[in-house]
This record gives sequence, C-alpha cells and structure tokens, in this order.
Amino acid sequence: MTTMETLVSLAKRRGFIFPGSEIYGGLAGTYDYGPLGSLLKENIKQSWLKKFVHSRTDMYLVDAAILMNPKVWEATGHVDEFNDPLVDDLKTNKRYRADHLLEEHGITDAESLTPKEMTAKIQELGIKSPDGNELGEVRQFNMMLSTKIGAADDSASTTYLRPETAQGIFVNYKNVVDSMSPKMPFGIAQTGKAFRNEITPRDFIFRVREIEQMEIEYFIHPEKWEDYFVYWHDEMLEWMESIGLDMTKVHDVEIDEDARAHYSKRTTDFEFDFPFGQKELYGLAYRTDYDLKKHTEFSKQKLQYTDQSTNETFVPHVIEPSFGLDRSVLAVLLSAYREDEMNGEKRIFLKLAPQIAPYKIAVSPLLKNKEQLVEKARDVFIALKDTFGNVVWDDNGNIGKRYRRQDEIGTPFCVVVDFETLEDDTGVTVRDRDTGEQERVMVEEMEDYFMDKLSQ
Ligand code: GAP
Repeated sequence: MTTMETLVSLAKRRGFIFPGSEIYGGLAGTYDYGPLGSLLKENIKQSWLKKFVHSRTDMYLVDAAILMNPKVWEATGHVDEFNDPLVDDLKTNKRYRADHLLEEHGITDAESLTPKEMTAKIQELGIKSPDGNELGEVRQFNMMLSTKIGAADDSASTTYLRPETAQGIFVNYKNVVDSMSPKMPFGIAQTGKAFRNEITPRDFIFRVREIEQMEIEYFIHPEKWEDYFVYWHDEMLEWMESIGLDMTKVHDVEIDEDARAHYSKRTTDFEFDFPFGQKELYGLAYRTDYDLKKHTEFSKQKLQYTDQSTNETFVPHVIEPSFGLDRSVLAVLLSAYREDEMNGEKRIFLKLAPQIAPYKIAVSPLLKNKEQLVEKARDVFIALKDTFGNVVWDDNGNIGKRYRRQDEIGTPFCVVVDFETLEDDTGVTVRDRDTGEQERVMVEEMEDYFMDKLSQ
C-alpha cells in the first residue's frame, strides 16, 4: 500500500498540496491547494455538481453565507452537542482526543463510550500521554470555531464559522420552497467551506480544521425514508466509482445508535482503507425532521410542505448524503498512485480518471530549439486548449523527462510534434500514460480522437 510519506511528498513536489502558511512555520490543521491540487479539487467538485445537481431536475443549488446567526447553532444542538472527548496531559497540559488514544490501544468502540467510561478505561489500561505522562479526566469540548462580528469584546456579537454546510440549506428551506415551488421529493445542494476546531488535526488532509463539504438535503415524505436511503446509498457509490476511487477499499458501515450524531436515526458511513486505517470518507444520514422542527421552534417560522395534489401539509423528513471534498482528494490520489517499471526504469504515475486529471493533455515540440517544430507545436497546443481547456505546454528537459513529469501528475496523454509532423504531415505522436504506448494521429483528427478518449 502507498505510504502517506510517499503521497505527501509527491503532493508537495508536484504542486498539489502544501502545508498552510508554510513560510511562517505553518498552521496546524490547514493545507493550501497548489496549482494542480486546485484543478484536481475543482474537477472532483464539478463531477459532483454534474451528477447530483446539473443532470437532475429535482435539485436546487444554494450558496449560503459561512457566518450565520448564532441562534442557528443553538437550535440545531451544535452548541450543546457538537463535542469531542478530550483529555489533558497532566504535566505538559497538552490536549488529546481520548477516543483516538483508546483506539490506538485497541479499543474499537471508543467513540460510543461516555467521558466517564473513557476515563475509567484509560486508568484500567494504564494509558499515558504520547509524552509518557499521566492523563486527567476526559471532558467534552465544543468543536465549533467562534468569531466576533463588529466591535471587539461585545459578547452579543459572538458567532461561529459554520461547522457543516447543511445548515445553510435548512435555513433557506422556506426561501427555496417559496421561490422555486419544488415538487416533493426534491433536494437542496451546497458546496463550501466548513470549520471545526479539531484538537488533534492529523493524517494530512484527512482531519483538518478548514474543510470543504459537498452536501445534499433531500426532502421526502416521512413514509418513504427507507426507499430513499437505499436510493442515495447507491447514488453515492456510483459517483465514487466514477471519480476513480478504488472500490475494493470502500466499505459501508452501519453506525450504532450510540455513535450516531444527535440528529440521525440511521447513518451509514462509507469508510476507505487509508494507509492509517479504515476511516470515514463520507456519510449518509436519515436526519428525520429534526432540523426543520428545531428551526421552526427557534425561528417561529413554519417550515413545512403542502402537497398540492393531496392537500396534505407536513414537515418533510430528510436524507442527507454528505461528502468531504478534502477526503475525496486524498482517496482519489491514494487510489490513483502507481509505481511500475517502464523501459527499464522505475516510474511513478497517477492513474487518474481523465475527467478528474488536472491536465488532460500535455503538448511538446520534440526539440525546443527548432523554431519550425515549436511553431507547429504551438498551433497544435492552441487548437487543443481551445477545445479541451486544461491542456498544458511542456518543453522542459528532454522528452523522457517530460513523460515522467506528466505521468507523475496524472496527465492521460502527451502529444509530441516531431520532424515527421512537419515533413509529410503524418500527424503527431500521442502517448498513453498508462501503457506508454504511442500512436500517430492526424492533426485534423485530433479533436475527435481526444473527444472519444477523454470521455472513456
Ligand atoms: N452535515 C453532516 C456532517 O457534517 P460529518 O460526518 O460531521 O457530517 C461530513 O461530516 C463529511 O465531512 C465527512 O464524511 C468527511 O468527509 C468530512 N469531514 C468532516 N470532518 C472533517 C475534518 N476535520 N477534516 C476533513 N474532512 C472532514
């Protein structure tokens, strides 16, 4: 299996992902996406939008503010319930996630234990902090990041950076119903940033403090929840496969009542075999009418639905497929990473699905100091870029080095303009990333050729 060290190093070396604020020594739990990581992330997001929003007739996209009225988080229970169990090193005062420490000592159901039970287990097993010191009592800490709005030190103006995009959907439920008159069942989707004060951010972009989510709240008649839960389960799997995830590493895990979020009556997590263990990639939850009812109670606004054909008025229930974009990037990179040997040399390549790859095609002149070659290659480059967008010009180093570099960033095809292209217009050489095989393609046929190849 690919190690995290290998992947983190490739991500930095090739411009995918950098530690956040690196020149100032970094900021724990933050990462910056570089030129290639941004493209990869954007392509994954676009693929999600295409499948779950643009190709459907029952989905409405919103883009709500990250800062929301603090009452939202009282209503939803996040102020009281969005907690992590933490424990202090009694000597250094450093804090750790108690459930993580217990997991590291073989307690698999740590998440479902109460703080008291965790404290007892820590004592029973004699677990020490990573620095070898005694640990204190396990306590719950709220994970929301707070901030001040307006004049500083005015406690009335404290609010939170949203910990999930979902609430931007629920608070706009009435606006969407009033303005769009959707027919039940329908969904509201949102992609965007969310923030969590993770005490021990770790495992690269797996557990970070600033995350990007892609979420759907699918509003249904309560009687139909089981059917739609199965339906969304299958839709999620279909999309995972389409972005090139290694499906042998994806497992669906039914979450016990004790470990479910406070709002959920059924949760299935999709877990992925990461190098650091089988961990949550995405979640699917039956949130019932919990959120709409709570917002009705706190806002005094009626959040309901009237079926025009039956005249029935009810509070819709909700199925929530929730996807983390950062974890998607990580799982896609881990699924794509390959090492093999080509022409007697070790090589690394990313077998990314063409629609997800940052660049689709790289174009090179065989030699960069031959004016005619460069001119012809530029024409080819411009024509391909006009049609396919993410096409890159690469004339650094010799042709072998260019292939290695493009393999390592997952570019599916390299096009080389050589002397034959000039002489008898026999076309260009197209090299396939996965097999290393090359074929000649006539310049006027290139567009159709790549249309076909890139849609596979
Ligand atoms: N609205 C439901 C919700 O937010 P969640 O399981 O807390 O549920 C949903 O988060 C998804 O967001 C997770 O499945 C994961 O992909 C991603 N996610 C959550 N916390 C994260 C973190 N600290 N770092 C990276 N991704 C995270």
